Amino acid sequence: MISKNNRIILSSICLIILMTTFNCTTKESTNTGDGNDLINQKVDSLLALMTIEEKVGQMNLYNGFWEVTGPMPDGDNAKIKYEHLRKGWVGGMLSVRGYDNVMKMQQIAVEESRLGIPLIIGFDVIHGYKTLSPIPLAESASWDLEAIENSARVAATEASAAGINWTFAPMVDISRDPRWGRVMEGAGEDPYLGSKIAVARVKGFQGEDLSQPNTIAATAKHFAGYGFAEAGREYNTVDISVSKLHNVVLPPFKAAAEAGARSFMNSFNDLNGDPVSGSTYLQRDILKGEWNFDGFVVSDWASINEIIYWGRAKDKKEAAEIASIAGSDMDMEGHVYVYELANLVKDGIVDESIIDDAVSRILRVKFELGLFDDPYRYCNKENEAKVIGQQSHHDAVLDMAKKSVVLLKNDNNLLPLKKEGQKIALIGQLASDKNSPLGSWRIASDDNTAVSILEGMQAYDGNQLIYEKGVDVWVGNTAFTKEVKINSTDKSGMTEALNAARNADVVVMVLGEHGFQSGEARSRTEIDLPGLQQELLEAVYAVNKNIVLVLQNGRPLALEWAAEHIPTIVEGWHLGTQTGNAIAQVLYGDYNPSGKLPMTFPRNVGQVPIYYNHKNTGRATNREGNVFWSHYIDQKNTPLYPFGHGLSYTKFEYSDFKIEGSEFIIDSDIEVSVTVSNVGNFDGKEVVQLYIRDLVGSLVRPVKELKGFELVSLKKGESKTIKFILTSKELGYYNNSGEFVIESGEFEIFVGGSSDTKLKGGFTLK
Ligand code: BGC
Repeated sequence: MISKNNRIILSSICLIILMTTFNCTTKESTNTGDGNDLINQKVDSLLALMTIEEKVGQMNLYNGFWEVTGPMPDGDNAKIKYEHLRKGWVGGMLSVRGYDNVMKMQQIAVEESRLGIPLIIGFDVIHGYKTLSPIPLAESASWDLEAIENSARVAATEASAAGINWTFAPMVDISRDPRWGRVMEGAGEDPYLGSKIAVARVKGFQGEDLSQPNTIAATAKHFAGYGFAEAGREYNTVDISVSKLHNVVLPPFKAAAEAGARSFMNSFNDLNGDPVSGSTYLQRDILKGEWNFDGFVVSDWASINEIIYWGRAKDKKEAAEIASIAGSDMDMEGHVYVYELANLVKDGIVDESIIDDAVSRILRVKFELGLFDDPYRYCNKENEAKVIGQQSHHDAVLDMAKKSVVLLKNDNNLLPLKKEGQKIALIGQLASDKNSPLGSWRIASDDNTAVSILEGMQAYDGNQLIYEKGVDVWVGNTAFTKEVKINSTDKSGMTEALNAARNADVVVMVLGEHGFQSGEARSRTEIDLPGLQQELLEAVYAVNKNIVLVLQNGRPLALEWAAEHIPTIVEGWHLGTQTGNAIAQVLYGDYNPSGKLPMTFPRNVGQVPIYYNHKNTGRATNREGNVFWSHYIDQKNTPLYPFGHGLSYTKFEYSDFKIEGSEFIIDSDIEVSVTVSNVGNFDGKEVVQLYIRDLVGSLVRPVKELKGFELVSLKKGESKTIKFILTSKELGYYNNSGEFVIESGEFEIFVGGSSDTKLKGGFTLK
């Protein structure tokens, strides 16, 4: 038995040996070329010093000593975790944050364990750390990759200042089902847009050099298929074809891997009967095989355990065997590997090479982060105090928030509001709330720290502003881990709201979901305005039709009545810390909105899943003039608002649409151009979108697929010609064997400001 002091000396010695033998420097800790070889050598040398228990320890990820998102597995208590830390049986900790806490854990790992291997410190930095950006779905509505990258950069800067070096983001799950609450965390329904955004976020988090103390390792999650949970019900089963998996689900993951994301997280779902934490197909064959991914895979919270509840493993031992062999390298709060894996190796059931591979991947990322150069690299008390919440971060999240707003409708040009001489009634509980705009997934931010919409509007003092909440949407306190309690009876505030509305020139109504009504475990079967808000809206409309409806929501909502009656609708999502300022600046025209929907809005929930890149079907139109075609007898097939839709205060016109040729051979570059003119009265920005349709394929192809876009700024009266180049990458697709094929034949090309554009041309691929 070695004493504590001896252990400290021993661990320091190991560290010194590693640093001097291999001359650790910041420069070598890069992820390329020679640096990579050197890191591999260091990893091998360290691995050779480790016992099987210490290796398995690296594969063990513990939560800090409080519950965050899931039930604690049996037998969990702080004492055991401390013991394991001292034994070197813990590779990383999650949700430990802030200088004092991170230092405490890191010191135990580095100074009290035999080898002194530093911990990797993970956290859900989803849309900011303390200063919050809009929820990821909202940011995606900006289609502004530079702004999104910058937003992730700000998040990484704050998180790393709090001692964190690894984020569980970006979530790159494509989803076509707004019932699923986690759509707020992703980039929406489209794999092309989703891939571009995945890359921007990975770059933003990881920066140029992962060893810099203000960059953090990114995690592409949840691998894979989680966004296709049946009926949109959280944690439900997933059954999808190979071609859908490859064409729709996997592209953003592949893009994230290619952009160098250092880790992947698997998920709670099964895929065609295989709980994905135990999926060899996804983790070994595709990710680590075909894609050559050299980072590591972390499980989702206790998802290795849950292989048992799925009925795929009989006990923890079997769950550990399945998951490790399938390529899950790290067990998050499952407490399965730490107790089972060493014995599985000793009993010859799991080969030690599997463990060595997993541990090497984890250690490699720790080396890249510079943790072996200085385990306390991310711990700096002064920096923490200075960086978190600094003004430049507020400026950046405000900028991102304005860019995320989507103008859905603006009949009669009710917006922008006049700045003087108006009586404005502001109505809705969500308008004055300072908590809900922060959105879901913001564990480190303080409650009630958003600028409310009321506060944002008050900054414009040329008008008379009267605020009434109308009705409560929710009652009592709200929290990340609790269901939001919706008010469905108390109408006591209605009369005051109607009085205010009756006497106003314009009524701004802020309605929608509380921030905690979307996110994990927030599936809904109705996606309308919760509680009494629809009733309030209709009652206000009866006394004053000049309504600007500002939505607050984490998912597409079904708002058919509003879309038909309310002249102006602004999609304001949950925009983070600067919500109120962003909304007010848009409403008053100090910012001209340019956002476009990253997800289709249905007319009602019965149309879900509804998405623009659907297949055609054999009976897509009413050819025979009878009832036997693909439709509903009580609702249209078309959405309320299509993917890519979004208006501006100015007007854009498209002209001179050209395809440079009519016949091309496979592998040639196809140039497409179009001129966009700002013919309205304001400077503005337009997202020019390009879609293709492969008319005849060896598998049925979607009616439209996004294959290019550009965000263009145009001054009033200005025109610009935009060029797109299409290559085989854009024209091919994956078949049901998972092979990428490019097929000759006719293609249509569509260009415009929304997926429902009618501007089209075509060519033949030979
Ligand atoms: C979520 C993950 C998250 C993890 C850690 C889980 O419940 O599914 O996305 O990263 O908790 O907080």
